[in-house]
Amino acid sequence: MALDLTAEQKEVGRKNFEAVAGDLTRRDMMKSLAAGAAVVPVSAAVYFGYQSWKGNKAVKTALIGCGDEGGVLMGDHNPEFLEIVAVADIRPSNQKRIFEGEKNGPRKGLNHYYGKESAKKIRTFSNYEELLDPGVIKSLGLEAVIIALPLHMHDTAAIKCMDAGLHVLCEKLMARDINRCKKMIKKAKDTNSLLSIGHQRHYSMLYAHALEVVNSGVLGDIKHIRALWHRNNSWPFTYTDAQAKEWYTGKDIDGTLCDIPALRDGWCKPIPLEDAEPFLKDHEALKKADFRTLKEMVRWRLYDRTGGGLMAELGSHQLDAASIFLGKVKPLAVQGVGGKFFYGPGKNDRESDDGVFVTFEFPGPQHPKAGKGGKDSSDIVVVTYSSMNTNSFENYGECLMGSRGTMIVEKEAEVFLFKENQPGKKDSGGKEMGVTVTATKDGKPAMEASSTWGGGGAAVVKKATASAWDTDVRGYRTEMEHFAYCVRTWDKKKGYEKGKDGKYVQNLPRCHGEVAMADAILALTANMAMDKKQRIEFEADWFDADKADVPETKYGKGQPV
Ligand SMILES: NC(=O)c1ccc[n+]([C@@H]2O[C@H](COP(=O)([O-])OP(=O)(O)OC[C@H]3O[C@@H](n4cnc5c(N)ncnc54)[C@H](O)[C@@H]3O)[C@@H](O)[C@H]2O)c1
Repeated sequence: MALDLTAEQKEVGRKNFEAVAGDLTRRDMMKSLAAGAAVVPVSAAVYFGYQSWKGNKAVKTALIGCGDEGGVLMGDHNPEFLEIVAVADIRPSNQKRIFEGEKNGPRKGLNHYYGKESAKKIRTFSNYEELLDPGVIKSLGLEAVIIALPLHMHDTAAIKCMDAGLHVLCEKLMARDINRCKKMIKKAKDTNSLLSIGHQRHYSMLYAHALEVVNSGVLGDIKHIRALWHRNNSWPFTYTDAQAKEWYTGKDIDGTLCDIPALRDGWCKPIPLEDAEPFLKDHEALKKADFRTLKEMVRWRLYDRTGGGLMAELGSHQLDAASIFLGKVKPLAVQGVGGKFFYGPGKNDRESDDGVFVTFEFPGPQHPKAGKGGKDSSDIVVVTYSSMNTNSFENYGECLMGSRGTMIVEKEAEVFLFKENQPGKKDSGGKEMGVTVTATKDGKPAMEASSTWGGGGAAVVKKATASAWDTDVRGYRTEMEHFAYCVRTWDKKKGYEKGKDGKYVQNLPRCHGEVAMADAILALTANMAMDKKQRIEFEADWFDADKADVPETKYGKGQPV
């Protein structure tokens, strides 16, 4: 993402961000916390307004869907907040993996957290509906579920869980179409259940600090955000004979062949024999779990019914980030080009595009639709997003381009910040210059180029890095802790009551249904614009959960996918 930066320039940008974000956060936290309260380091819990509790009050939770993402979430959960009492997965391989974890990487496994012996008490189910039996819920003392199922099942599973009296943290994208999102929100309100959707950037301290920088105004007038997530899945898939013996290559239940993929593509994996066998004996069980084929079960991202393509899987995260930076204003329009540019016939049977290139128009602060009383309809922020499968040179991130500065968020892991060079003013910005925060005449923060960090600025950097904000950079742990905190403090009787200010009176997850639905609208309308090869204008009522209006799907206005 930070394409033409040298290692030294990156270091400057990194230190600039630490200094500026650290300073801005400290000032704000000073204002918002009681005088004398310790503000450094700023922990995620302090920042997002929750706390742990004394004694064993962890929320008894079941994980539904123990695949790749379920494993990541378990690898980051904090048992003081969430106690995992049950897991459900239809694939035997994933039922095992969720306990054993992986040697390297984020999926540490439940045995790691609870100890092999204690983890045996965690009950394992196959289809998630088994654990929704009232007797099972009661015996487990179950209060909440985390859903990490394929996209097409999110709404049905979340609604069934809420009907069973459980609070829900469901992975993104919220649902396969917006009708379904609206049903989920309604169900949460009707049953007074919490509904949180897993766009983890809402809980990332890195993004929180980046947002402080944006909100302070030091970047000036932001007119463009460039976001991208590029991968290279064009390499041949290599494997050993021993591995191949563990994969199923016979007939799928619809009669087509289950192949071993030719290319390395995380969305098109081989089908483990142990996962195929139970369903080859019992086709109905697979259908009951909402899959038409074994391929659909393992490679659900490739098919239109079960997945939402690159916009749903990757783009939704980054459009979420871009819209957070723009104050969650509603977008105006989207257009784009997408297609199966690489995976043509014979490579795999995917339906989803392998390349998407889209352009969104968002209202700038002076635009009438920004809701700030502005009258300048030419004040537009253009957000471009691309995702492709044949080149990973830039990988992923978001670059915000303002009239006074540039901020690059790279791979959810680090941020680089630079001040624009002012014409005629030597060493006033650019890729080599260290910056700190100063106040303008009217008291607003601004960036000031001081020196390179190798020189006089080093002392400031030391101060900034000492406030190292948190280790949970990506936000998963914080997301789950905050969800547990909301569950523990939730009063079902009050439910979704609103105060005089029109805001919900109780603590809600930061990415609750209405917030997440906006992200789904962005991703799914971009897909529609690419399908139709048209510029689509967003309508306000789509974003209103109480109104029936929804964006068109490829099957027609208001038609489900
Ligand atoms: N927040 C993020 O950054 C992020 C990252 C990756 C994936 N995700 C989301 O997480 C979700 C899961 O993705 P994944 O990569 O883990 O997919 P996956 O295919 O690896 O895992 C899904 C699991 O659900 C299980 N399952 C399917 N039907 C079931 C049923 N009826 N009952 C019980 N289990 C069932 C499958 O067997 C599988 O193990 C998706 O919505 C995806 O978009 C989010």
